[in-house]
Amino acid sequence: MQKKLFIISNRLPLTVEQTENGTTIRQSSGGLISAITAYLGSGGADTFNETIWAGVTDCSEKVWNSANNLQEKMDYTYMPVFMNSKTYQSYYNGFSNSLLWPLFHYFPSFAEYNSNYFDAYINANKIFAELLAKHIKKDDVVWVHDYHLLPLAGMLRKKFPTITIGFFLHIPFPSYELFRVIPKQWQREILSGMLGADLIGFHTLDYASHFLSSVEKVYKVERDGQYLSWENRQIKADAFPISVDYQQFNDAYDEVDNSQVKNDYLELKGDKQMIFSVDRLDYTKGLQSRLKGFKKFLVQNPEYIGKVVFVLVIVPSRDSIKKYVERKRMLDEYIGSMNSTMGNINWQPIIYHYNHLSFEELVALYTVCDLALITPLRDGMNLVSKEFVASRKDKKGVLILSEMAGAARELTEALLINPNDTTEIADMIKTGLEMGVEEQEERMIAMQKRVSRYDVNSWAADFFGQLKHVKGLQLQFE
Ligand code: UDP
Ligand code: G6P
Repeated sequence: MQKKLFIISNRLPLTVEQTENGTTIRQSSGGLISAITAYLGSGGADTFNETIWAGVTDCSEKVWNSANNLQEKMDYTYMPVFMNSKTYQSYYNGFSNSLLWPLFHYFPSFAEYNSNYFDAYINANKIFAELLAKHIKKDDVVWVHDYHLLPLAGMLRKKFPTITIGFFLHIPFPSYELFRVIPKQWQREILSGMLGADLIGFHTLDYASHFLSSVEKVYKVERDGQYLSWENRQIKADAFPISVDYQQFNDAYDEVDNSQVKNDYLELKGDKQMIFSVDRLDYTKGLQSRLKGFKKFLVQNPEYIGKVVFVLVIVPSRDSIKKYVERKRMLDEYIGSMNSTMGNINWQPIIYHYNHLSFEELVALYTVCDLALITPLRDGMNLVSKEFVASRKDKKGVLILSEMAGAARELTEALLINPNDTTEIADMIKTGLEMGVEEQEERMIAMQKRVSRYDVNSWAADFFGQLKHVKGLQLQFE
C-alpha cells in the first residue's frame, strides 16, 4: 500500500504576491514554516511515498496557477486551498487572530467574541476537510498544524474513522481559567476537534496539561497520565519541543563568513558592540518593553552612548488587523523619538528594519552581533533564540531570553529575564555586554549541546514514533 503524508496548515511555505512588476514569490515567515520546511528539506519524510502540503493561498486560483510554474522543484507537492475572501477574513483575521491568538497568549483583553467569526472558522475548516477527503486514503498519515485548524482532525475523523491523525499546536495552550472564558459551545467544538487526532503535540508539558485539564473539565472524562479515552480511542497529549535544523545553521556560519552581507554588517558595527533582535510584528513579542529596557540601559550607563547599537528587525505580519497596525505605529513613534532624543549626528541607538530577511542576512546578523535580545511577553517556543544559538559556531555571543518563551525551558544558560521588568532587561544588557569570553563560551556550549541533540528532525521523529505507538495501543484495545 502506498502511504502518503499530508501536512496541513493554514499557511503554505510560499507566499505569492502580486505587485506592479508582476507576480512575486517569497518564503512565508514564522516558526511553523521554518520548522516544517527544515524537516521536509532534510529528507525527514522520505519514508512516505509522497508528501502533500495543504494550505490556503494568499492569492486567487488564477494567480496561483501562473505562479506555480515559477516554483522550484520541491520534495513535496502543494495542495492549495481556495476560499472566498469574506470567509477567509473572518476565519483568519477574525476567529484565529483576534480571538484564539490573543487568548492563548494570555491577552484576554484583546480577544474579540464574534459568532460570525466562529461560523467562518468552522466553515473554513470544512473547506479543508472536504478538499482533503477527496485525496486521502485510509492508510495515509495526516499531520494537522496549529490554532487555525483546531476542529479539522475531528471533521476528518468522522470521514475516516481509522486513519492516523497527528495534531501539533505551535502556540501555548492556556490554563483552563483562561480557556473557559470562550463561550461553552465553542470550547466543546474546539476540544472535540482536537480530540479527533490520535496524538496531540504541544511545545511544553505545561501546555499539554492545560489541554488535558480543559478536556477533563469540559467533557468530564478522566485522563490517565498523558492519555485519555475518547470515542473508543486511546489518545495521547504530550510535549514535543519544536526545534531548528541545527546543522544547517551551524554550517551557515562558514557559508556567510566573508560574504558581502556579513562584511556590510561588520562595517556597520565598526568598533561598537551590537545588539540584535528579529521578530514578526506582534504584540506578544514584547517589543515595547525591549526598547524601554534598552533605553533604561543607556540612561543608566551613559558611557555606552555611541558605543553600542541595536539592530532591530521587525518582519511585517498580519497587517490587516487593527491591533497590529496600532502596534506598528506605536513602535515607529517610540523608535523615532528614541533616536532623535538619544542619538547624535554620528550615532543612532537603533537601526530599524521593517522587512523580511533572507537566510543569509539572518545568519549574518546572528553571527555579527554580540548579544541577541529576545523578550516575548508570551511565546509558544521561539525559534529565533535556538537559531541564534545554533549559528554561533564561534561559541561567542550572549543570549538574553524571556522566561515566558517555551525555549527558556531548554536554554537555561541564557540570561533569563522577566519581559515586564524593564530594569531587569537594562541590567542584563549590561551584564551581557560585559560578559567575558570564557563565560560566553561555557554558556553557548551547554545550549548548543541541547539544541543539537534535539533538533527539528528529532522533534518530528519523536512525534511520528509516538503517533505509531498510540495507533498500536488503539489496535490492542479494539
Ligand atoms: N524568519 C522569517 N522571516 C524573516 C526573519 C525570520 O521567517 O524575515 C523566521 C525565523 O528565522 C524563525 C521564524 O521566522 O524561524 C520565527 O519563529 P519564532 O518561533 O521565533 O516566532 P513566530 O514568528 O513563529 O511567532
Ligand atoms: C506563528 C503561528 C504560525 C503562523 C506564523 C506567522 O508562528 O504559530 O501558524 O504561520 O506565526 O503568522 P501568519 O499569520 O503570517 O501565518
